[in-house]
Amino acid sequence: MNKKHFAVAVDGPSGAGKSTIAKAVAARLDILYVDTGAIYRTIGCYVKEKGVDPCDSAAVIALLPEIHVDMHYAEDGLQHMYLNGRDVTTEIRRNEISRYASDVSAIPEVRTHLLEMQRQFARESCVIMDGRDIGTVVLPDAEVKVFLTAPLEERARRRFLELEQRGTPRPYEDVLREMEQRDYNDSHRAAAPLRQAEDAVLLDTGDLSFEESLEAILAIIRKKVEA
Ligand code: DC
Repeated sequence: MNKKHFAVAVDGPSGAGKSTIAKAVAARLDILYVDTGAIYRTIGCYVKEKGVDPCDSAAVIALLPEIHVDMHYAEDGLQHMYLNGRDVTTEIRRNEISRYASDVSAIPEVRTHLLEMQRQFARESCVIMDGRDIGTVVLPDAEVKVFLTAPLEERARRRFLELEQRGTPRPYEDVLREMEQRDYNDSHRAAAPLRQAEDAVLLDTGDLSFEESLEAILAIIRKKVEA
C-alpha cells in the first residue's frame, strides 16, 4: 500500500506508557517505531562503564567522539541498541542506567550529537517516535503530536510492576521517589526540557486501559493523517 509520509511525535514523562503504546501503534499502522530514550540510555551506559560522573559535562562531552550508537530492528520488530558494535538492548534497561540517561540528556552537546540521527529516521520512513522533545525540537513539523501523561503515583505503580515482572523488584516508595526526581530533572533542564508542544494533543492514560489508550491515540492519528 502506498502510504503518505508522516511522523507521529509522542512525548511525556517516564511511565506514561509511551513505548508500549507507540510500539503497538507502529505494529497496527505498519510504520517504524523509534524509542529515543534508548539512545540516551546507550550513552548513559558508556559513561557508567567509563566510571565518569554523568553530571560532569566536560568529561561526558570528551567521551562523545568514542561513542558509536547504532540501532537495528530484529525480526520480531524489537529495537536493538548497539554501543560500539555491542548489543546493549537488555543492559540499558537496568534501573541505574535510568539516572545516567537522565543526567547525560541534560547536556546540550549530547542532545545536538543525537539530533541528526533521530531526524534521519523520520526522513527515511513513516515513524512514531517517542521521547521528551520530539514534538518540540526533534520533529517540530511532525504531522501528529501527542503528549502522553498519567499521574505520578500511577506511573510509579506501573514501573514498580514492570520491575517486578522483570525479576528486579524495588520498593514502591523508592520507585516513586526516583520517578519524581527524574520528572523534575527532565522538565527543569535548560536544554530541550520535557514540555507539551503547543500543537500537541494531551492524552492522560491514568484511567485508561492499554486498549483504550491505544484506540485513543489511533483516533488522534486518523484525524490528522490517512493512516
Ligand atoms: O524514555 P526513557 O525513560 O527510556 O528515557 C531515558 C532518559 O532519556 C530520560 O530520563 C530523559 C532522556 N530523554 C530525553 O532527554 N529526550 C528524549 N527524546 C528521550 C529521552
